[in-house]
Amino acid sequence: MPNQATLPDGFRLDYINVLAEKIGPRGLTGPELAGLPGLDAAMDAMEKMRLTGDVRWHDEKVYFPRLAYQEENNAAQLARIEAWGAGVRARFDAVVSLGIGGSYLGNQVLADALLSPLWNCLPGAEHKPKIYFSGNNTDPQSVRDLEKILDLERTMFVVISKSGPTTATMAAFLHFYRLYAARGLDPAGHFTAVTDPERGILLQIARQGGFPLFEVPPGIGGRWSVLSDLGLLLAAAGGISIHDLLAGARAMDQACQGRVLWNNPAYLYAALCVGLYRKSGIHESVLMPYSDRLRSLALWYVQLLAESLGKEKNRRGEVVHEGRTPIAAVGTSDMHAQTQQHREGKKNKLVTTVAVADFGADDIALAADGPWSGELKFVAGKRFSTLLDAARRANEEALAADGRPSCCLTIPRLSPFTLGQLFMFFELATAFEGELLDVDAFDQPGVEHYKKIMKTMLG
Ligand code: PA5
Repeated sequence: MPNQATLPDGFRLDYINVLAEKIGPRGLTGPELAGLPGLDAAMDAMEKMRLTGDVRWHDEKVYFPRLAYQEENNAAQLARIEAWGAGVRARFDAVVSLGIGGSYLGNQVLADALLSPLWNCLPGAEHKPKIYFSGNNTDPQSVRDLEKILDLERTMFVVISKSGPTTATMAAFLHFYRLYAARGLDPAGHFTAVTDPERGILLQIARQGGFPLFEVPPGIGGRWSVLSDLGLLLAAAGGISIHDLLAGARAMDQACQGRVLWNNPAYLYAALCVGLYRKSGIHESVLMPYSDRLRSLALWYVQLLAESLGKEKNRRGEVVHEGRTPIAAVGTSDMHAQTQQHREGKKNKLVTTVAVADFGADDIALAADGPWSGELKFVAGKRFSTLLDAARRANEEALAADGRPSCCLTIPRLSPFTLGQLFMFFELATAFEGELLDVDAFDQPGVEHYKKIMKTMLG
């Protein structure tokens, strides 16, 4: 049977290390994968969702795959986003993105992956505007620290909340909005809003304040929204090609429509995850990119998987307490933190690594004639990327040797196109996994519970 699925542009899923032929009886066989219960029904459900937006048990439409096709169906709005981004780059030194959960995490990925986690420290006019995040916590010290950094006259705040009354986001907004007056400044022209186009307190505030308004359209839930205006604005402000980002998402969506499991990387990945979960109780899901720039992709995926599939009831109303538990890690850093647990702790984890095949001009070769002797001789003349790749492969082999599964996603390089692919890959895989588990992947009733209690506490 095959052990990798490769797309023409080089995106690859390697899964030899989940197969019984490699890791022994806890791994999966071809017939087990091909015969996974619910596979055909899940494919039917995904086809229906793509065509109509209908998802069984979910009372709103689900349109996230359509975001990949905005060049065709939303061109005027894309042009507006690009014009807004160009204006921000010309007039402001800093952009502060205010939002939480799905209104935050994807934007952190865009900034880290396609600019740099160190973007705000990099010198030179080409590293502007600086990009900050707030409204993702109500920690007063973070807000105070940010106040000290910002020159309010040269700052654009983007307030993002699909629903509107989200505590952390709106607390940050109210604070920074008032700060202008407190410092004798006019906030006009310093705030942009992204929200539901039809309802909500943020919509009202933005209309009253005359903020430029962008939308999270109906049918796009928070954690599925990074390719809506919400993420495209941040990308445009950072000078990232939104067209390449969408082209990558489109390429992935098109590659993941076929019904031949071995050729459909997102469905195949979901099937591997559910197969291992059902057969061998593998219910913890470690996402471990071997790239600092992709560290926050793992955090974004944690939310996507946790909120989508961590459900008390299935769609038959039975109590199931469903969903694998996601864990974020980054290689090689977490090999000196988590790998001990992954290799010798509970045998309940699937480690999914992400490899960047080519770091381009950024790659560093160590000198062959350095003071390398004795124990350090093995690094002489090696590239950093070679060390990174060897560490990943060694990790996968060490896990496999103890019958522990892992699989690897390889992207040819880190670019807007490949990040668009990764976003769509994980979104489709998670939606498909929801179908296989028969849970509603698009609601989050568990989050609503705490919100209600907190509102009562605050009066
Ligand atoms: O995925 C989700 O729906 C949530 O994580 C939301 O994105 C998060 O709760 C923020 O919601 P809002 O955008 O309404 O402020």
